[in-house]
Amino acid sequence: MNRYILLLAIVLISSSYQATEPNLIIGSFNIQTLGPTKMSRPEFVETVCRILSKYDIIAIQEIRDSSTNMAVINTLVSKLNEYVLSKGINYNFVISPRLGQGTHKEIYAYVYRTKTNGSLRKIQVVKQMVHDDIEMVYDRPPFIAEFKVLDTSLSIKEFTLMNLHLRPTAVFIESLGLRKVVDRYRAGSVKNIAILGDFNIDCSYISTSDRQSVALTLNDFTWYIRDRYATTISTSNCAYDRILVNTAVFKNAIVTNSNMTYRYDLEFGMNMTEVSKISDHYPVEIKLF
Ligand SMILES: *[C@@H]1O[C@H](CO)[C@@H](O)[C@H](O)[C@H]1NC(C)=O
Ligand SMILES: *[C@@H]1O[C@H](CO)[C@@H](O)[C@H](O)[C@H]1NC(C)=O
Ligand SMILES: *[C@@H]1O[C@H](CO)[C@@H](O)[C@H](O)[C@H]1NC(C)=O
Repeated sequence: MNRYILLLAIVLISSSYQATEPNLIIGSFNIQTLGPTKMSRPEFVETVCRILSKYDIIAIQEIRDSSTNMAVINTLVSKLNEYVLSKGINYNFVISPRLGQGTHKEIYAYVYRTKTNGSLRKIQVVKQMVHDDIEMVYDRPPFIAEFKVLDTSLSIKEFTLMNLHLRPTAVFIESLGLRKVVDRYRAGSVKNIAILGDFNIDCSYISTSDRQSVALTLNDFTWYIRDRYATTISTSNCAYDRILVNTAVFKNAIVTNSNMTYRYDLEFGMNMTEVSKISDHYPVEIKLF
């Protein structure tokens, strides 16, 4: 009997040790026209830093910066690092080239923690690439990054994120193309993948049957942000921002009901006028354990 009690104690102690490591939070945020104009407003920079500081990894869409030194993202992440310095946290980032045929080219970014106070956990980007869009399906092909989490007790230590911003006018064709994006990247091997970003895949941009066709082609993926869940600040309930996850390993690592928007406006006590100066989207997120 004592042996069982000892065993139970060991199990309890080791599981409570594991529980001391905070969840790893992955987010995605379309920061509407994130360019020099917005960056020139201190209230904007401060609020966005506060929002970003919640995340271990965040995929960002709609950076517009034609400067040669990538001033927008460089400034944003250095401000973010100033903001979290006293909290014992540090961030790094990777960005895509400017993508898109039109004049308003966009840059994708991943901002991720290299240091988190109270945890030895370190996040690395081991590989990054823009999807090789030989069929020319996309205006802004997905930006793919492979992440590795070191010194962690998380149940998942390696995964790939595919960051995207689909064209409202080509949602169906671009989202159908994701099968090829995933398969070309995986090249036959098993990979833990989350596709996340602004898909524009709801309401007037796609019909229910077309959306179902997309879900069928991506039937190894679970949609962690459901249809008609409001991800924008508009009063209509449209789930434009999504997080799709494949493999049992990845899905089992997601904290139940952690898939949601981050209503930072409620947390920070902001009114709609103030929120609209940040973005027309809310961040969407999942937590891993
Ligand atoms: C790190 O976290 C611990 C415990 O939460 C806290 O006491 C300490 O002040 C933090 N260190 C920094 C640099 O924030
Ligand atoms: C989160 O995931 C659960 C389980 O898959 C689902 O029931 C729920 O609707 C999801 N939440 C959102 C906001 O989509
Ligand atoms: C929103 O808050 C700002 C700043 O506190 C204030 O100036 C503005 O009047 C408020 N707007 C509304 C519609 O309440």
